[in-house]
Amino acid sequence: MMVEGFKMNLIYFDLYQSTRLEKFVTAYGEFLKANGEQPVTWKRASSMDEVLQQADVISLHPILDKTTYHLVNKERLALMKKEAILINCSRGPVIDEVALVEHLKHNPMFRVGLDVFEDEPYMKPGLGDMKNAIVVPHIASASKWTREGMATLAALNVLIKGYPVWSDPNRVEPFLNENARPPAAAPSIVNAKALGLPVSKL
Ligand SMILES: NC(=O)c1ccc[n+]([C@@H]2O[C@H](COP(=O)([O-])OP(=O)(O)OC[C@H]3O[C@@H](n4cnc5c(N)ncnc54)[C@H](O)[C@@H]3O)[C@@H](O)[C@H]2O)c1
Repeated sequence: MMVEGFKMNLIYFDLYQSTRLEKFVTAYGEFLKANGEQPVTWKRASSMDEVLQQADVISLHPILDKTTYHLVNKERLALMKKEAILINCSRGPVIDEVALVEHLKHNPMFRVGLDVFEDEPYMKPGLGDMKNAIVVPHIASASKWTREGMATLAALNVLIKGYPVWSDPNRVEPFLNENARPPAAAPSIVNAKALGLPVSKL
């Protein structure tokens, strides 16, 4: 997380308040202060535009739906600092990639890091030639622990051999309750160990 690695202050926008994130940054700030360092701060912005105007590094993590399609478009790119860094590990169509290529051409100090693409696996013309774009092939979740855990639990969901499975994909709230243990059911690798499921030993 960039807040921790680079000791960055956080400004975020989400439709919902992220108390977990806020608590984390508060605690990290207190830790830094206790060690005689400048504490990091957090702020929940009232709009996405506020974040775009103020942040030096913008990392996109929304779902892709009608409200987030081309969330970052020509107008929004123009709001950002000329030397900002934009990172997208969510879904390609969250950024208007044609507008992005134009923006990169006209703003050489603006940089982008992309894990996902609008027409994946293809890139819009010109993107691959831009010196201020770093692109990787959709590998954001590619740690051995994650992929091994995903594969194991996907297999368990198909070949049920007495393992408990959460059968209502539209009801995920019980997994998100910070004050209670997650339900005794897959699909989460978060609680797989507690359920005695054979996940990675890493
Ligand atoms: N690159 C990869 O390998 C990889 C791996 C996993 C997930 N993803 C993608 O990352 C994204 C985030 O995944 P997640 O599991 O954290 O999803 P999530 O559902 O937990 O979080 C998405 C967040 O987006 C917010 N949001 C939704 N619409 C919004 C809007 N219009 N404006 C602002 N915020 C909005 C939601 O409130 C939520 O907090 C998804 O697009 C997912 O597909 C990519």
